[in-house]
Amino acid sequence: MGIRRTFPLRDGRQAIVRDALPADAAAWIANLNAVGAEGRYVMTEVFARTREEIETQFKETDPTHQLWLVAEVDGRVIGGANASRGRHSKNAHSAELGVSVLREYRGLGIGQALMEAIIAWGRELGLAKIRLGVFATNAPAIGLYEKLGFREEGRLRKEVRIDGAYVDEVLMALWLRSV
Ligand SMILES: CC(C)(COP(=O)(O)OP(=O)(O)OC[C@H]1O[C@@H](n2cnc3c(N)ncnc32)[C@H](O)[C@@H]1OP(=O)(O)O)[C@@H](O)C(=O)NCCC(=O)NCCS
Repeated sequence: MGIRRTFPLRDGRQAIVRDALPADAAAWIANLNAVGAEGRYVMTEVFARTREEIETQFKETDPTHQLWLVAEVDGRVIGGANASRGRHSKNAHSAELGVSVLREYRGLGIGQALMEAIIAWGRELGLAKIRLGVFATNAPAIGLYEKLGFREEGRLRKEVRIDGAYVDEVLMALWLRSV
């Protein structure tokens, strides 16, 4: 399909959202580890897969099933997102997504641009819904998802423990068409 979109950030700089390339693998892993090290937003704290595995993943992606996107500012990959469509006939109408932006680049419109690219991909494929799980304490992410029309569909109660407190995982979805 080939996704590449340039857009202005709130601070005047330009950003690019595009398909991830094998050369982005090291930055992809470093960025997920940086967000993981913050300890409160995503489940994974240390990314277990190797650079070679991620390179292969980016190289061999089937865009009708999976999407790997990066966001770039000043030539540096500073965020990314992925979406994965159900692999079975029972869930092929639904995709799950993940998104993250390095801390110093948040609040500039990058997360929203990544999400909008995933939603456009889902519409192009004719998917019915896009879903995700988010920790109930993650107000920035919930704000982003609600702004784009995602709504809560359920909760896994006290699914995670963050800084010693049990926190619900909120399951949210955006419906692209009715079924
Ligand atoms: C969630 C995340 C991806 C948002 O990305 P971002 O680039 O900062 O978001 P944007 O600047 O595009 O903001 C888009 C919208 O999100 C919402 N939002 C962003 N930051 C917010 C905040 N701190 N509080 C409440 N809402 C917020 C707003 O609705 C905002 O729209 P507005 O600016 O018109 O009000 C980013 O905070 C992040 O990477 N967090 C760590 C990783 C993470 O939590 N990933 C999701 C796990 S489920």
